[in-house]
Amino acid sequence: MFSRASEQIVDIVQGKIPQHIAIIMDGNGRWAKKRMMPRVYGHKKGVDALRDVIRACDEFNIGYLTVFAFSSENWRRPADEVTFLMGLFLQVLDTEIERMVRNNIRLKIIGNRERFSPELVRMIEQAENLTAANTGLCLTIAADYGGHWDVLQATKAMLKAQPELLDGFGEEDIAPFLSMAYAPNPDLFIRTGGEQRISNFLLWQLAYTELYFTDLAWPEFGREQLVESIAWYQQRERRFGRISEQLSE
Ligand code: IPE
Ligand code: IPE
Ligand code: MG
Repeated sequence: MFSRASEQIVDIVQGKIPQHIAIIMDGNGRWAKKRMMPRVYGHKKGVDALRDVIRACDEFNIGYLTVFAFSSENWRRPADEVTFLMGLFLQVLDTEIERMVRNNIRLKIIGNRERFSPELVRMIEQAENLTAANTGLCLTIAADYGGHWDVLQATKAMLKAQPELLDGFGEEDIAPFLSMAYAPNPDLFIRTGGEQRISNFLLWQLAYTELYFTDLAWPEFGREQLVESIAWYQQRERRFGRISEQLSE
């Protein structure tokens, strides 16, 4: 006898699987506080949830998974939490990289690296290099990332490469310089933790993404909840400015 969850899995694999899923992993701190634990306990549990979701994305043949780990604005948090998060990032890269190599996962890190410790920058470069030739799931971690930063850095890089564009340029000129130029735009965006906002995540790239919000905290999210969100996605009609009748033509 099949459970509801496994029936749903059969359904989603027969439907249109999103090529790219982008997630704001929110609610760690409040989840921990509710359990009388320090906020950072929630961040640790969040790593376990991420591992589950990566495995599930791999299983469902999702091409790209992009997760928001630390925003440009998260530097405003108490210093001890920032320090903990930077330490956790370093530690997770160190311990998980072997698993990623083994599982054919290509890892990319997007964001401003200037404020990271030299040790973290080295670890990021090493992790990217070790997985660069992998052909499976492309996992992107956004760290010290902001949508505003991305558009600005892309514009600056474009003008540096092609100064003549100062007189005028278009979307297609900037696009190759954006942080995620290697990936299609996200099809499905998920935010856990109850807030319904973008918080300066992939602003340019989310223009036509389907937005899914859940009150579950990130540590409570896993394979089953991912299936739920994909099933929801498959019910959406993506019109990209057209009308319904045009889509079947
Ligand atoms: C998301 O969880 C993780 C990071 C921003 C690093 P939060 O830390 O924002 O948790 P809440 O939203 O305060 O519960
Ligand atoms: C967004 O979460 C950033 C990450 C999950 C890394 P926040 O918890 O920082 O978002 P706001 O500030 O409440 O919007
Ligand atoms: Mg939060």
